[in-house]
Amino acid sequence: MIRPFSLSDLNGILKIERESFPKSPYDRTTFIHLHSLYPGNFLVYTGASRDQEDQIWGYIIFSPEGHIISLAVIPGQRRKGIGQELLRKAMETPQLKRLQAEVRRSNLGAQAFYASMGFRIIGVVPNYYGNEDALIIQWTPSNSKRV
Ligand SMILES: CC(C)(COP(=O)(O)OP(=O)(O)OC[C@H]1O[C@@H](n2cnc3c(N)ncnc32)[C@H](O)[C@@H]1OP(=O)(O)O)[C@@H](O)C(=O)NCCC(=O)NCCS
Repeated sequence: MIRPFSLSDLNGILKIERESFPKSPYDRTTFIHLHSLYPGNFLVYTGASRDQEDQIWGYIIFSPEGHIISLAVIPGQRRKGIGQELLRKAMETPQLKRLQAEVRRSNLGAQAFYASMGFRIIGVVPNYYGNEDALIIQWTPSNSKRV
């Protein structure tokens, strides 16, 4: 199930973060700051049954303007539609004009994921990650009408 983040989820989030972004994981302070900035747009995906509801399997953070700050699913739960469900929640935000994200050029899995959700590449930022380019990807509500 998807619900808003609470501070007791932090350890679970940090575990996903370290496993998903080993080169540049956000730290505890960054997540606390992001939560204070965007409390309604920091969502977590937990297991559905009673004994799983404390297990954090994925999360998404996005700004009200539609910048996806982070999205990740724990490796053992990938390819089960969790990323899709989290992203759909962001897409359903009323009055949202677009969603945008940066993705490492080498992150082909995430690129395939976003493409499957109707995102398109709209630009490149050279060396955004130090020695690696970022692809800027975007979705607008009109994209989804065509898929
Ligand atoms: C990208 C990520 C969030 C996807 O989450 P997920 O829950 O595994 O994705 P879903 O199960 O919802 O996938 C939906 C569809 O996207 C595509 N897809 C997802 N991961 C893919 C991969 N590694 N390779 C190719 N296609 C992929 C597939 O079409 C998939 O449908 P299918 O499984 O029926 O073929 C997850 O792989 C992840 O956390 N990666 C590390 C962090 C990251 O790169 N985040 C994005 C940058 S902000």
